[in-house]
Amino acid sequence: MDRAESALSRLRTACSAEKGQETVQASPPLAPTHVGVGRTVAKIILFGEHSVVYGYPAIALPLRNLRMTARVTPTPGPSMLASLGWSGPLDQAPDRFSSIVRAVEATLDFIGRPDAHLSITTLSDFPAERGLGSSAAAAGAVIRAILDAFDVEADAEDLFELTQTAERVAHGHPSGLDATATSSATPIHFQSGQATPVQVNLATWIVVADSGVHGSTRETVGHVREQHERSPETTRPLLERLGEITQQAIADVQLGDVQGLGRKMNEAHALLAQLGVSDDHLDALTEAARAAGAVGAKLTGGGRGGCVIALADSAASAARITEALGAAGATGTWVYAPHAYEVAA
Ligand code: MEV
Repeated sequence: MDRAESALSRLRTACSAEKGQETVQASPPLAPTHVGVGRTVAKIILFGEHSVVYGYPAIALPLRNLRMTARVTPTPGPSMLASLGWSGPLDQAPDRFSSIVRAVEATLDFIGRPDAHLSITTLSDFPAERGLGSSAAAAGAVIRAILDAFDVEADAEDLFELTQTAERVAHGHPSGLDATATSSATPIHFQSGQATPVQVNLATWIVVADSGVHGSTRETVGHVREQHERSPETTRPLLERLGEITQQAIADVQLGDVQGLGRKMNEAHALLAQLGVSDDHLDALTEAARAAGAVGAKLTGGGRGGCVIALADSAASAARITEALGAAGATGTWVYAPHAYEVAA
């Protein structure tokens, strides 16, 4: 029995239990009965973007104040989408929504209702295409909203697989880090598809700054892949070093070694720049953060646009760094105090 059949069988079982044996219908429950809601969050990658695609570890933090919410209501048809300022029939959605379209198809297949018509809206607290996990968060929220509307439960593995199906459309070969981090309740250590919670013991503020430039993870992942194929002898050592740094950073995060972490962030940024996934904006923002007293700074996510993160050792320093990042051209900043990301693992 494949996943869709097994979900349908669970649905049928639930339906017969609810209705009693004498009233059981041969057909499955067909219509969603209420508005479905799905929620996910933004994420930042502390270490390991790009190298994670090659099997090295990564550390990511969910940002629980930056939420993505999807709402799904049944409609007679056709299916409609309203997202990121665009609205219209789902089958006419522009390319940038192709992963949401895939998420809808995959989830309706999963629940055995490929013919259902839905009105879908997404609402986000954070910008798209900035390395904050918007595509995985949107797909994950839509998947959860559809399941909710049809009262179908899915386990963590099913949710991950459905989100990855959508992410493959967005990114080509996603590691699964974004799909996991945008629905995680805790910071995670992620490697080769496996996530484990990380205990973060850092007396440090994290400043996230948006360069305002759209990034394409598909392009930067493709660029690193090409480079890896063309010159493995120069690319492989960069990825390996990123992997080593990340492994050591896990201990820093757990032991609270802020200075060690900052040094590693600076080195990670330099390595990512050598891989060709930084740009002038991201370099300028990381330099401005360091000049304003950041213990370390690096790009986060796919790069070539998107966001940087900077570590500050006090609230006052975080305020100075935030000001400097604004002066250097950041279009948005968010500051996380230790309690905002130190979730007990
Ligand atoms: C993108 O947020 C993270 C990357 O490592 C891609 C991936 O892990 O699939 C660049």
